[in-house]
Amino acid sequence: MSLAENVRRYYAARAPVYDESAGYTDPEAEQFRGPIKDRYRKLFEGHDVLEIACGSGYWTAAVAETAKSVLAVDVNASLISQAEARCRNLANVRFQIADAYSLEAVPEGFSAAFSNLWWSHVPVERIPTFLTVLHGKLKCGAFVLFADQLVYDVLTRREDASGNTLEKRVLPDGRSFDIVKNFPTEEAIRNVLSGIATNVEYIERPGEKSWSLTYNTKE
Ligand SMILES: C[S@@+](CC[C@H](N)C(=O)[O-])C[C@H]1O[C@@H](n2cnc3c(N)ncnc32)[C@H](O)[C@@H]1O
Repeated sequence: MSLAENVRRYYAARAPVYDESAGYTDPEAEQFRGPIKDRYRKLFEGHDVLEIACGSGYWTAAVAETAKSVLAVDVNASLISQAEARCRNLANVRFQIADAYSLEAVPEGFSAAFSNLWWSHVPVERIPTFLTVLHGKLKCGAFVLFADQLVYDVLTRREDASGNTLEKRVLPDGRSFDIVKNFPTEEAIRNVLSGIATNVEYIERPGEKSWSLTYNTKE
């Protein structure tokens, strides 16, 4: 099975417990995420946003508060259903089942793209083609934001021959998955964006245990 397919299956299996396991049902964590949501509301204000791998729509709902429109896609129908329920009162949000590597049937012409906790799950060898496909759906000069986790302590991590980091994840029902979870360096990110992006900004936020990447697609 491919690395990408393993990630897809892992999240399909985790869907029933996704919100809880991601901390999205924890009121204390909600306070901590408030400033992050504020940041996203400002950055996407007035944009037509394409969100990749939206999961249960937790961040979709925040972005949609100020965006002109959001099309949020995910490969797993079970997560899209949760996202639809969460955003049912937001008239400017639509959802679509789509594979991030092909974005088949996803329209073009978005002014911005957003993706949280997705870059780390893309095998390093697939990042360039993933970005080509994504940028093909965006206007020239579009604003893009990726956010993901800084490295954290875990015992069950190993490297494969292509330079991917694999983590063993075990679900509450005992099922176990080896999934790609990469922690790219700023240099690796800048290298892959070379020639296809401008205004590249990479910020590590240890207080939020995350990094973020913003840029504009090349005009
Ligand atoms: C870590 S979760 C992030 C979800 C959401 N963005 C968030 O921050 O909570 C990764 C998501 O990627 C989705 N996914 C896995 N493989 C995918 C693929 N090939 N195309 C699109 N989405 C995919 C999973 O279904 C899951 O919702």
